[in-house]
Amino acid sequence: MCGIFAIVNDKTHRAAQTTLEGLKKLEYRGYDSWGVAVVTEKGASVAIEKHVGKIGGATTGLPNGTIAIGHTRWATHGGVTDQNAHPHLDCTGRFVVIHNGIVENYQELKQNLIKKHHVFHSETDTEVIAHSIEDAVKNKPTVQAVLEVFSQLAGSNAIVVLDAKTKTIVACRNGSPLVAGIGDESFFLASDVPAFLRYTSTVHFLSDGEAVVLSNQGIKLFDIRTIKTKPMSTQTLDWKLEDAEKGGYPHFMIKEIMEQVRTVPKTAQVNNDVISAVAKQIQKGNRVVLTACGTASYCALAAKYFFADIGLEVQSYGAYEFAPFAKFSDKKTVLFAISQSGETADTLIATKKAKQNGAYIVAVVNARGSTLERLSDAVIPVGAGPEIAVVSTKAFTSQLSTLYLVSQAVTGTLPKAASEITTLGRVLETWLTDTLCEKIIKLAKDLVDHTDMYVIGKHTGYPAGLEFALKIKETSYIHAEPFAAGELKHGVITLIQKGTPCFVIATQENSKLELLSSAAELKARGGKIIGVAPFPSAEFDVHVPIPDAGPLTIIPAVIVGQLLGYYLGIGRGTDPDKPRNLAKSVTVK
Ligand code: M6R
Repeated sequence: MCGIFAIVNDKTHRAAQTTLEGLKKLEYRGYDSWGVAVVTEKGASVAIEKHVGKIGGATTGLPNGTIAIGHTRWATHGGVTDQNAHPHLDCTGRFVVIHNGIVENYQELKQNLIKKHHVFHSETDTEVIAHSIEDAVKNKPTVQAVLEVFSQLAGSNAIVVLDAKTKTIVACRNGSPLVAGIGDESFFLASDVPAFLRYTSTVHFLSDGEAVVLSNQGIKLFDIRTIKTKPMSTQTLDWKLEDAEKGGYPHFMIKEIMEQVRTVPKTAQVNNDVISAVAKQIQKGNRVVLTACGTASYCALAAKYFFADIGLEVQSYGAYEFAPFAKFSDKKTVLFAISQSGETADTLIATKKAKQNGAYIVAVVNARGSTLERLSDAVIPVGAGPEIAVVSTKAFTSQLSTLYLVSQAVTGTLPKAASEITTLGRVLETWLTDTLCEKIIKLAKDLVDHTDMYVIGKHTGYPAGLEFALKIKETSYIHAEPFAAGELKHGVITLIQKGTPCFVIATQENSKLELLSSAAELKARGGKIIGVAPFPSAEFDVHVPIPDAGPLTIIPAVIVGQLLGYYLGIGRGTDPDKPRNLAKSVTVK
């Protein structure tokens, strides 16, 4: 949760400013506070600037230097204050630390350090790292000291330590993401590639148990346990700078929604071999289990319907509730772990449990080089490109179409499914346009002052409704509650009053009549019925037409929810790219 950035050998001598710009690309990871530290050229001391709140358009007057680190925080230990903002220092001011994760044994470490007269200036778990290194370095070199201290930290962590004396950066990873960027002359570290994509797309994704040491002399990879160097495995990504820019849109969220005309059909082209291989695992008669969190968990639920429709019963679990069911996974289980980031703690924990029991793990991921990828037997990268808005949009629809391809590959109809997705791409080109946006803007204006909304759906319209409501909640903070249409009459219907907005999501012809009956029940209680459907109906007070894409109609249905969430957020003055209290990847339990 938190974004990390570091640069060494910045030839512009504006390392602090470069760091601040890098942090702006990572703000989706946390925006409670930010901070930058630079080793000054005069006197080799450390200058630090820290502030509570979002970076926004901030600039920094920090002095010139060629080596700097920076951090954007999603608070875990210690309130949102300047003192708790990273970076943190040891007592001497030599070691400057930024951190992503939780040091689970920090209280114990802190008490020992206090006994040794270290003085703490924050309430964070991070500060123990700086003081521990100060102690450890008394009788060993910096690299060894940092690696040994890191090995003592319990929990999932990534740290970056700047040694102002030797002008060296040491960074370690265990469970929290960290990627090194190798430029022509400069070297970078970040929690995610877009932060330094302007300078290089040649990267080494650190694995757990790896550390890198960066200095003007170059970059070296270490094994943390043995403290020995090892060869780097660099790769050059095909990401473009535009992928990490707003490209003329006011927010990443709307840019990423509109990109779906390209990202959805792309899924039909990129993974056919691995999808066929995974389908073979399922064809052997293995049990299929899907797990994920948040938006990705709604993809898991939708996939359950895709598989049911081909005659295969599969299970789906929110990863945070997987533990009691993990014991049912074994060598005859294929576990799909679905995740945009590949770093969601609950999803990783569930995956590890299934893996320990012998399950074949398939990662359906968007971001590259993630922990989830490394845990998996097969990786299906959905290829939506960097998703910068905290609220997930294009990754979800790429996950959906990918899981649809997998389900169809099991029945041997992958080429037909790929062509359906390609066709949907063409349909989206003519439907997902400014005209649709204008329609949704008008709807959002009509609804913006409501405090409660309800969303019902049936079949894939049910997971579509879950995601539809989540987009409204995350982006506009309006209470939107989703239900399976059939659930309504069992209690929820008490909540419907005259004028209550009720969305009816229709994605499937077979369940149309039952769904419309539920709509009629809502209408009879005064609900304002907004039909998101390929067909008109007398039950609808407002109709938002969506293309009929057969089993893939869930995709345009969800896109309406994405647009509505976005425009309701705009109407309510929120920042749709950075909703309050949320972080893009939830790397803590
Ligand atoms: O990176 P992941 O897909 O594993 O993230 C899972 C959820 O945390 C994520 O989908 C979350 O629900 C987003 N806020 C959705 O917009």
